Amino acid sequence: IGPDVIDIRKLYAQTGKFTYDPGFLSTASCNSTITYIDGDKGELLYRGYPIEQLAVNCDFLDTCHLLLYGDLPNADQRTDFHGRVTNHTMVNEQMQFFLRGFRRDAHPMAILTGLVGALSAFYHDSTDINNPQHRDIAAIRLIAKMPTLVAMAYKYTVGQPYMYPQNDLSYAGNFMRMMFATPCETYKVNPVIERALDRIFILHADHEQNASTSTVRLCGSSGTNPFAAIAAGVACLWGPSHGGANEACLNMLGDIQKMGGVAKVGEFMNQVKDKNSGVKLMGFGHRVYKNYDPRAKLMRETCHEVLGELGLQNDPLFKLAMELEKIALEDDYFVARKLYPNVDFYSGIVQRAIGIPVPLFTAIFALARTVGWIAQLNEMIADPEYKIGRPRQLFVGAAPRDVPPLSAR
Ligand code: ACO
Repeated sequence: IGPDVIDIRKLYAQTGKFTYDPGFLSTASCNSTITYIDGDKGELLYRGYPIEQLAVNCDFLDTCHLLLYGDLPNADQRTDFHGRVTNHTMVNEQMQFFLRGFRRDAHPMAILTGLVGALSAFYHDSTDINNPQHRDIAAIRLIAKMPTLVAMAYKYTVGQPYMYPQNDLSYAGNFMRMMFATPCETYKVNPVIERALDRIFILHADHEQNASTSTVRLCGSSGTNPFAAIAAGVACLWGPSHGGANEACLNMLGDIQKMGGVAKVGEFMNQVKDKNSGVKLMGFGHRVYKNYDPRAKLMRETCHEVLGELGLQNDPLFKLAMELEKIALEDDYFVARKLYPNVDFYSGIVQRAIGIPVPLFTAIFALARTVGWIAQLNEMIADPEYKIGRPRQLFVGAAPRDVPPLSAR
């Protein structure tokens, strides 16, 4: 079906032969019109628009409209879409009681997986994945409620009262207020931080068929409800090889700092290059990008802006990250394997500077990626050719044998 693509389904129909591809290194699971990545050039486009232009000229809700409906909103559509989203920012009060069932020291991703799945119990008018209206209202609800849920998970773990959404604020500004304000003081949104957070959301909004998105598609392919499918995506994102990398990256920088900081970078790099050490340079490498991740470039710029605004230009972890990047980009090990910084390398430093606690980083990623998950899910369900996802396997276990009696086992 293309110069580099073979449609294996015909071969399967004719011969019963199938392919063996653990990790899906060479398997396209779907057609998609949403996101395009050129890993060799380091290029990322949402619906044809370069990520660099979207990050500068649009806000996150414009990006959501683009991903969900195929194009950027005009002025009227923008007002309408913002209104629809802000209309749904509250969550049912019952959610508080559900939240109380968690230990206070629960990981925010454990809480979020539960809360997102629980939404299906509240919105019975949006659980039929085969109904386009249901899918649309579920999309709006999920985008609107994710910031509220993430902020609730945070407030719960620190024992502070929940802050209700304030709908005259921007999407990012409202999230900052729900996170950092308390009922006993006036909170003013810092526009530089608000813009940085909005940019983090834009950069994480979609990334074609990554592990969590593929999980959402596979989960949704059984016809389950949209909230359950998105909860599956949250669970998958949690892992350190995926969305958990920003948390792991910041922990790594903290460890190097404890070892002695910039002076110990060489020693740390030797550990990374020693295959027996099991140590990886977190925030480096990507399955698709074999060049600089364009999101990492934008995130590094944002990092400078945020640290400048907060007077943290001499932040030791930022200096450490710059040094690691410099050394890695000149090191044969990394050059030969085409390992470059990915989006998570700098996003953790930005989030930490903003005041977001490290265990919440992946939850922020989930908040932003929700729109991508839904757009991909909706695209799959609307495709008349879609089928339940069902990979095959090569069975390499025992040959048929008889069950021995207990006395002989
Ligand atoms: N540090 C050191 N070596 C690495 C790294 C790294 N971060 N990443 C890859 N390598 C090495 C591998 O050991 C392997 O070496 P080898 O050929 O000698 O065996 C080679 O580079 C190729 O790597 P693979 O693991 O085969 O690449 P894969 O595409 O399977 O993995 C992944 C990609 C999971 C992202 C990997 O690079 C990694 O673990 N990076 C660190 C975690 C991370 O930053 N994840 C975030 C990804 S982006 C995101 O989810 C938003």
